[in-house]
Amino acid sequence: MKQITIAYIMLCLIYSCNSTKDMSPATSQDSGDNIEKIPFVEDLLQKMTLEEKIGQMNLYNGFYDLTGPAPAGGDAAIKYANLSKGYVGGMLNVRGVKNVRKLQKIAVEESRLGIPLIFGYDVIHGFKTLAPIPLAESASWDLEAIEQSARIAAMEASAAGLNWTFAPMVDISRDARWGRVMEGAGEDTYLASKIATARVQGFQGNDLSDPSTIAACAKHFAAYGFAESGKEYNTVDMSNVVLHNVILPPFKACVDAEVATFMNAFNTLNGVPATSHNYLQRDVLKGAWNFQGFVVSDWGSVGEIVTHGQASDEKEAGALAVRAGSDMDMESYVYINHLKELVDSNRVNKEDIEDAARRILNVKYKLGLFDDPYKYCDEQREKEIIRASEHRAAVLEMAKKSIVLLKNDRELLPIRPNQKVAVIGPMVEEKNSPLGSWRLASDDHTAVSIREGLEQYENIEWTFAEGVRLLDAAPAFVLETKINMDDRTGIDEAVSIAKENDVVIMALGEHGFQSGEARSRTQLDLPGLQQELLEAVYAVNPNIVLVLNNGRPLTIPWAKDNIPAILEAWQLGTESGNAIAQVLMGDYNPSGKLTVSFPRAVGQLPLYYNQKNTGRPVPMDNQEMVFWSHFGDESNMPLFPFGFGLSYTSFKYSDFQVHLNADNNIDVRIKIANTGQRQGEEVVQLYIRDLAASITRPVLELKGFDKIDLKPGESKELQFSLTDKELGFYNDQGRFIVEAGQFDVFVGGSSDKLMKKTVDRK
Ligand code: BGC
Repeated sequence: MKQITIAYIMLCLIYSCNSTKDMSPATSQDSGDNIEKIPFVEDLLQKMTLEEKIGQMNLYNGFYDLTGPAPAGGDAAIKYANLSKGYVGGMLNVRGVKNVRKLQKIAVEESRLGIPLIFGYDVIHGFKTLAPIPLAESASWDLEAIEQSARIAAMEASAAGLNWTFAPMVDISRDARWGRVMEGAGEDTYLASKIATARVQGFQGNDLSDPSTIAACAKHFAAYGFAESGKEYNTVDMSNVVLHNVILPPFKACVDAEVATFMNAFNTLNGVPATSHNYLQRDVLKGAWNFQGFVVSDWGSVGEIVTHGQASDEKEAGALAVRAGSDMDMESYVYINHLKELVDSNRVNKEDIEDAARRILNVKYKLGLFDDPYKYCDEQREKEIIRASEHRAAVLEMAKKSIVLLKNDRELLPIRPNQKVAVIGPMVEEKNSPLGSWRLASDDHTAVSIREGLEQYENIEWTFAEGVRLLDAAPAFVLETKINMDDRTGIDEAVSIAKENDVVIMALGEHGFQSGEARSRTQLDLPGLQQELLEAVYAVNPNIVLVLNNGRPLTIPWAKDNIPAILEAWQLGTESGNAIAQVLMGDYNPSGKLTVSFPRAVGQLPLYYNQKNTGRPVPMDNQEMVFWSHFGDESNMPLFPFGFGLSYTSFKYSDFQVHLNADNNIDVRIKIANTGQRQGEEVVQLYIRDLAASITRPVLELKGFDKIDLKPGESKELQFSLTDKELGFYNDQGRFIVEAGQFDVFVGGSSDKLMKKTVDRK
């Protein structure tokens, strides 16, 4: 009997080894041979001097906006001189047809070969007409709407003379302290990859040479969102398993969508600056993934290789960056100042310069700039397209889809006709903050405020009060925000109007400039005196609807325990107040679901749903026992989990079926019914857990979703198929492998409320 058992185990082991499939090469050396050779560009390269090729690798900031630490315009005289010599490949932060045309004219008419410039800009969530911040958009789980939003941004930006956006940011982050969580698609790799694809397609369309599309840029390659303690620009150290399974897939999705460019990152990864990271840029991106576009550095990041302590001077930094595959230098002037000498002294290969120049020229060629360098410079189009009314209508739809209903006890929402409503808080009249961070081209104070949105509903008796000011000084893009910590003069008025009304809407949150680049925070509660205001109002009228405006998850456990209704309204862009009003009034049924876990306390961070089990997870039997993975003073659970969001209607999940088909794929079926009184949309989520694998797998992993619209009483059956692609993972060599064994399959409307079935996969 014993022998049989051992033989059986041996067989199983052999079988499970045999059934592990290695699906992909981890890396392959980038030889430069795979890059497309476009005859026009090849001819041009033949004619170019070394200096002119290096010039293509030089990206200057313009003379207007500033998004990094340099004097506005830098040394303008040098920049203008280099433009006319043909020593500049592109400009950033120049916008408007007039300005773009002026600089393009110098490059095209004054330089020896007349090579046109590429014009880049941070078109992150719109240009003039602003969509919600990217994190908010991700909460819609609506890929078509997200693609359309990027499309509108591209139309407006291209009408302003631009042909390249520094977006999408596809950095995964699990730490809400990091200010740039507002700019990404949340904590989940699967969803973020889908959103990355949608955004690239939205910006680039099917044809880069169409003057209404622009080149996209997948950034920041890589692992920038894993900065230690969420502190901006901080060190990143991580295993290959995390790098390949969590960080890289959204970037790979961008390559698959033929993104034209990549941007590297400010951080080091395991001790090597991303900008001089050979493995990332040469082995993975240009090698294994065969990326055909070019890589731009982040602002000054070539020069920062010295500051990081990898190079002793700028010359060495330039050599390291070029060798590692950074094709274009944004604003550190290292390439333009040192590359020629580095090539002459054989410290940099001519072939690496040739390859970088070719990649940049290929993108310009695909944009159609050699056919017509002024194709984005049409004043008439600029006038007609920017702020077009259809764009406002589209960003309003996007804004509504981005809102997440977090709590709705006693069905306090929607507001009923003829109710008397007090509207209190520093966000009520705000027209600037809802525009969010990263919106340089837009005009300040142009968002529809919550007050303006609500006042359109005339059957309600509204009373408004600020309660407390959030800021002491108007924030500028480059200055720290100053929070009001002592002016309480408005609290009494707020309390007295709260007493006299049926319901109180409280609009609280973060200012738009409290998140974004270099906006890390150690405390994530409501800033300033807002919590005090909330509690003072609650003491006299607990019928509160809390409307949150914020660029990242906040720690609001008191509000969750006490406030009956909470609406997460992020920073929703130009149409913010209208979107919020329509949801509050029930003209739109909220359908968003969180794409980031909300922590109960900052000490829980990093916090994410797809964690590992550990050797000592929650003890089921003996809760008194102390030796398990937990905090002594706080729950392990998030305040609001990934995938969570309520609706004004209700959904029932039934008929859950899971079976292994003849191709060894797992087929999943689920029926969803709208059991409430209103039409509504539901994001149906599919998760797996690989129960035993050669490298431990997370307790849950999103592997599919669908957003469906159901009328009251209506139901739909959905089908999913889980194949090698969803069931495999990357090992510590970065190889994609698929292993046999048991998988739990889960379905539901939130990561914390799922139905489960288990299946054995061969
Ligand atoms: C940011 C990039 C941005 C660049 C240009 C940098 O500070 O990290 O995301 O694209 O500036 O504005």
